Amino acid sequence: MIDISGITRIAAVIGDPVRHSRSPQIHNAAFRHLGLDWVYLALPVSAGRGAAAVAAMRTLGIDGLSVTMPHKADVAAAVDRRTPAVEALGACNCVYRDGDVLVGDNTDGLGFIRSLEAEAGFSLDGATIAVVGAGGAARSIIDAAARNGAARVLVINRTPAGAERAAAIHPSVSVAEVTDLAAADIIVNATSVGMAGGPAPDQLPFPAEFIQPHHLVADIVYQPERTPLLVEAEARGAATIGGLGMLVHQAAVAFEHWTGQPAPIEVMLDAVRRS
Ligand code: ATR
Repeated sequence: MIDISGITRIAAVIGDPVRHSRSPQIHNAAFRHLGLDWVYLALPVSAGRGAAAVAAMRTLGIDGLSVTMPHKADVAAAVDRRTPAVEALGACNCVYRDGDVLVGDNTDGLGFIRSLEAEAGFSLDGATIAVVGAGGAARSIIDAAARNGAARVLVINRTPAGAERAAAIHPSVSVAEVTDLAAADIIVNATSVGMAGGPAPDQLPFPAEFIQPHHLVADIVYQPERTPLLVEAEARGAATIGGLGMLVHQAAVAFEHWTGQPAPIEVMLDAVRRS
């Protein structure tokens, strides 16, 4: 265990529910590994209390906050400064300090991009990326891809209105259909389809016949690590990447904001696999 003292610094995740969060294991393993005098806790905070939690950061001297459902929009509105990702998305998953200023960031999209580079050696520079889904996770990826070199971002969603809202994020984003997947270099499942315990654990987010060998198929679902989509994509000769990398890399970006140190990715991956 970390030897907690009078000068131990505090980071925490707020959410409801939050007890299932793997973030404490990920961050505490990283703090221990680097010998940092920090501790990371999970704090259940009920709906409507996100801004109060930001005020509590100031009052209690908490140095880092991760933010999950249902507080991402409230916290985005309550911080002193917002990164471009938060300005675009209206959703904040990480708060850090710049002196006395509380800065809100959204690390999901950059985490996803870093996981592509680290795990698949894939650069979005000039690429066409197709994102299936238009919820919060999808929007984070769409925004980060559009601002980090992707030539085109295609959004495919079950409900067209959601895709149209997502397409408004950036000029390089457009609404697309499954038949447009042929033009993509990378396809991302950013829906909950395929998630164990979710509403559609055995389904695919789009028909498998649209997967081709030139595709990199990425899934943000990390439980199971090999989703039905990834199994099918592999069988069709496509390269694949699972969702654990995004989970760990979005945490790593937050960790770096808080501590100013490079995150120990392998230690964090190992912690999440064991949790
Ligand atoms: P999150 O914030 O975690 O990304 P969300 O906002 O609930 O989650 O978004 C879920 C996404 O998964 C949406 O794009 C949703 O499609 P709709 O906009 O049509 O609801 C998509 N989704 C969920 N279940 C799906 C299913 N069975 N088939 C296709 N898409 C699904």
